[in-house]
Amino acid sequence: MVADFEVRHRVAVVTGGSSGIGLRFVQAYLDAGASVVAVSRSPGPLTELKTKYPDQLVHVAADLSKPQACYIVVESALAAFGQVDILVNAAGVNPRKNSDELSFEDWEMTVNLNLTAPYLLAKGFVGPMRERCWGRVINIASLQTERAFPNGIAYGATKGGVGQLTRAMAEEWSRFGVGVNAIGPGFFPTALTQRVFENEDLVNQLAAQTCIGRNGTLDDLVGPLMFLSSPASDYVTGQILYVDGGFTAK
Ligand SMILES: NC(=O)c1ccc[n+]([C@@H]2O[C@H](COP(=O)([O-])OP(=O)(O)OC[C@H]3O[C@@H](n4cnc5c(N)ncnc54)[C@H](OP(=O)(O)O)[C@@H]3O)[C@@H](O)[C@H]2O)c1
Repeated sequence: MVADFEVRHRVAVVTGGSSGIGLRFVQAYLDAGASVVAVSRSPGPLTELKTKYPDQLVHVAADLSKPQACYIVVESALAAFGQVDILVNAAGVNPRKNSDELSFEDWEMTVNLNLTAPYLLAKGFVGPMRERCWGRVINIASLQTERAFPNGIAYGATKGGVGQLTRAMAEEWSRFGVGVNAIGPGFFPTALTQRVFENEDLVNQLAAQTCIGRNGTLDDLVGPLMFLSSPASDYVTGQILYVDGGFTAK
């Protein structure tokens, strides 16, 4: 038997699809022949990508820190291609503030975007997935799902929550064919981590904390994404797949 990594003809919703990890995922799905509904507040580079993949890509503009917007996104995404097979919850923020600087608004926005939106979107898409006995929810966890980092009270709390949300959703939905897993990236250069990557000493220090000896490139995430998106991972659920060069192993 040859493992089946096929995602052609699937429809994937990727939140945070306009930048960084989400944008790389959008490109990976398009290259693999899947259709994509990318969600973010503004389209950014998706406008140009749409000209290359006019029939495969739809952008939905939404502020996912507003719960009401999540309900609208579910309706728009289901309407775009008639079904949704895969949900990737990649939109996220990290305020990087200590407790004295962190306002209630910072906290609320971080919790809403990083934790509440993945729950509301998954809850919205799981019904049709269960009816068709196949689906995937892929959350984006973090090293902060496992470890405390400086200025990480809000972000760390949400990413810890994402880990348990993943396991709890897997417990409820896996028997209906809906696999729920998370990817836990190490350090990848994106807008979110720009301040980290501007500090050369810190970059080298983080790289030295991995088993492999370097930080991630966005291409490192594509294989794990395809595995978790395809029938190859049919018996994998409730897991956090760390793509961190061995950071959490060391
Ligand atoms: N980069 C890393 O090393 C790393 C490591 C571990 C985990 N992660 C996680 O990976 C995910 C993606 O991060 P990234 O590094 O790719 O960040 P990024 O480049 O900053 O991208 C963030 C994405 O989220 C969208 N977004 C932000 N606020 C939003 C809102 N209110 N409503 C809707 N969309 C919103 C942004 O688009 P708009 O601004 O247009 O809305 C953008 O598409 C996050 O969950 C992050 O926690 C990243």
